Amino acid sequence: MKIGTANSPSATKALLLGSGELGKEVAISLQRYGVEVSAVDRYPNAPAMQVAHRSHVIDMTCAEAVKSLIAAEKPDIVIPEIEAIATAALLEIEAEGNVQIVPNARAIQLTMNREGIRQLAAEQLGLPTSKYAFAETFEQLQAAVDAGIGYPCFIKPTMSSSGKGQSMVKSPDQLQAAWDYAKAAGRADTGKVIVEAKVDFDFEITLLTVRALNSEGQVATYFCEPIGHLQVSGDYRESWQPQAMSANAIASAQQIAGKVTDALGGLGLFGVELFVRGDEVWFSEVSPRPHDTGMVTMVSQRQSEFDLHARAILGLPVSTALDKTGASAVILGGIDAKAVVYGGLAQALAVPDSEIRLFAKPEAFVARRMGVALATADNVADARTKAVKAAGLISVGVAG
Ligand SMILES: Nc1ncnc2c1ncn2[C@@H]1O[C@H](COP(=O)(O)OP(=O)(O)OP(=O)(O)O)[C@@H](O)[C@H]1O
Ligand SMILES: [Mg+2]
Repeated sequence: MKIGTANSPSATKALLLGSGELGKEVAISLQRYGVEVSAVDRYPNAPAMQVAHRSHVIDMTCAEAVKSLIAAEKPDIVIPEIEAIATAALLEIEAEGNVQIVPNARAIQLTMNREGIRQLAAEQLGLPTSKYAFAETFEQLQAAVDAGIGYPCFIKPTMSSSGKGQSMVKSPDQLQAAWDYAKAAGRADTGKVIVEAKVDFDFEITLLTVRALNSEGQVATYFCEPIGHLQVSGDYRESWQPQAMSANAIASAQQIAGKVTDALGGLGLFGVELFVRGDEVWFSEVSPRPHDTGMVTMVSQRQSEFDLHARAILGLPVSTALDKTGASAVILGGIDAKAVVYGGLAQALAVPDSEIRLFAKPEAFVARRMGVALATADNVADARTKAVKAAGLISVGVAG
């Protein structure tokens, strides 16, 4: 692997499709190896744009817009950071053979749609998942629930993330509202929803899985220590690493993650979401990119999930070793306002072994993630307490 000089004709150029807080860290990790980074999003001043060499505001769901930007930028590598991208454009560009799509266009297409990834994981690979069905009408949904999925169950748009359009239904009278919500809130109206039986898990994890080149130049799979997390309304609030689990559960989790990432292929880091009860493990979903719950690795690993993604993409060696027990706690906006002001930073950073990352998003919303608190400790309980304390000390307000 050779890397040129950024901002010169020899530059090794990466184009980030999506410029949120995860993309910002990927941009920084790439730039540490001298890569020239362009950041793209649907609005100006997105987090990754603030650290990139260049930025562009386009509608990434528009295939023509994606293609013409790639034609103009001529990147060596295209790194999708969000799900809502015109994947047809990525397939076309990949087929031309001049650009590395991370991890590859097919993986991006399969994972952006719950139907694609379920079919791959459950039907082709035979991995354990919740019972599920797809429905195009309310009647089909009702029939699927009655025929065996039962209650409680989850109704989700086939294309959505961060819990959007998703609800848990406990009884038949709640089904219609869940259907209406899923239909209204999905990212793109695929006309379908997925209904999943509720898995009664002890805890859920993200198993960060890296496909990178080994010293022989062959693709090998590496696993980080499992990350435990707490979800509220389909969005993560706290994560910690390592999550204690039985040796059998770890072995199953790695086997499932290995199979699904092998089937997706390419180089890069994946966030494999799994449910665990005792020794049993169920596959839930997978992101072919850094995962929000993996922000904890900024303090818990020598090579964060963003470094691992950058290294894997560039064909460089990786180490997924844990450095310290750590935790993260999100900082939500709490208000709807632009150009907010953050208070309490000194108090938060006075919490021992803590770190704060503010994403500098131009606009806050009540439930928008604006920053994250990170902390390390000798054990998970103490790390979580510190991270939650530090996050709670940050205030988000209006100027003046
Ligand atoms: N079948 C299920 N059984 C039990 N819990 C579930 C099930 N499906 C979803 N959940 C809960 O809801 C959370 C969000 O679900 P899921 O990951 O499918 O949605 P998402 O919108 O893709 O979220 P994100 O983008 O934040 O990962 C899960 O992490 C889990 O806590
Ligand atoms: Mg999820």
